Amino acid sequence: MSDVTTSVDVRVPVRTAYNQWTQFASFPEFMTGVVAVQQLDDRRTHWVTEVAGARREFDAEIVEQLPDQRIAWRSTDGDVRHSGTVTFEALAEERTRVTVDLGWQPQGLMEKAGGLIGADRLQIKADLERFRRFIEARGSETGQWRGEIPETAGSAPARAAVPTEPAMPAEPAMPRESAESAASTASAGSAPDVVDILTSQHQQVKDLLDRTSAAEGPEKQLLFAELVDLLKTHEKGEQRVVHPVTRNSVEGGSQMANARLGEEQRADQLIAEVEDLSMNGYEFDAWFEELRSAVLAHAEHEEREEFPRLRRDLDPARLRTMAEELVAVQTAKN
Ligand SMILES: [Fe+2]
Ligand SMILES: [Fe+2]
Repeated sequence: MSDVTTSVDVRVPVRTAYNQWTQFASFPEFMTGVVAVQQLDDRRTHWVTEVAGARREFDAEIVEQLPDQRIAWRSTDGDVRHSGTVTFEALAEERTRVTVDLGWQPQGLMEKAGGLIGADRLQIKADLERFRRFIEARGSETGQWRGEIPETAGSAPARAAVPTEPAMPAEPAMPRESAESAASTASAGSAPDVVDILTSQHQQVKDLLDRTSAAEGPEKQLLFAELVDLLKTHEKGEQRVVHPVTRNSVEGGSQMANARLGEEQRADQLIAEVEDLSMNGYEFDAWFEELRSAVLAHAEHEEREEFPRLRRDLDPARLRTMAEELVAVQTAKN
């Protein structure tokens, strides 16, 4: 089970932040992994999510809802196990801390690969940041439901309380694909191969380079530490599983593998430099741009030369086996 907890402080009263979270249908506005949420009744919701290219549908029930304090839900059926809690803490009259705790069972290699490099954690952090911008830009919620659902161990169907205030007019229905079409998307396509996983990790690296570059202060340090972890995990997998195959099984592979290893060592040296030095902001930014250029050029070489050559020269079944080996190596402690 993957579990991620992350917080954001928003400049709105606790009531506004809470009310917005009672509007499940608005989640796709700020949660990138959520395609649609349909509120079936006060307690039940139907979710369509898409994480690392995998589309899922499931029903969830609200297991606890306390106005201005917390909302907890968990999946009841469908093809994914998912649970979430969001809590609200009033820091000041116009300032609220929103903490989201999500747990789910990753399905398939792409989701496992995303989880192990922290892509899921980064996505949820980014989503909360989007929530902050969404609610602060509006200044008010799109709707509210002030009913209460006391914590329950079972799945009691009866509603626990009548709303203390009339609900706002229903939001317009969110566009939602039919269950049939989404289900066929989820089951379509074969298992990912090693190039699918590496390319998706490259995209995570690129996103994190951009976000680190744009951030400031402690947030920049945090993102930078995540970037270093991600790069190390990614390159470990390539060096143990991918480059050796390139060297031995691909036309012109020896030269190609040497060139890629040289680029990876250069990135390692750059990272070691910053870990040794206490740089001021200006020096860090100049150094970071050098690392960013080196990493982007390296990823482009892999995507334009090495990956297409692997796809051309290797059997698809071998590439899928390598995907499993890659995830096993990246998940291992050493
Ligand atoms: Fe690489
Ligand atoms: Fe790579």
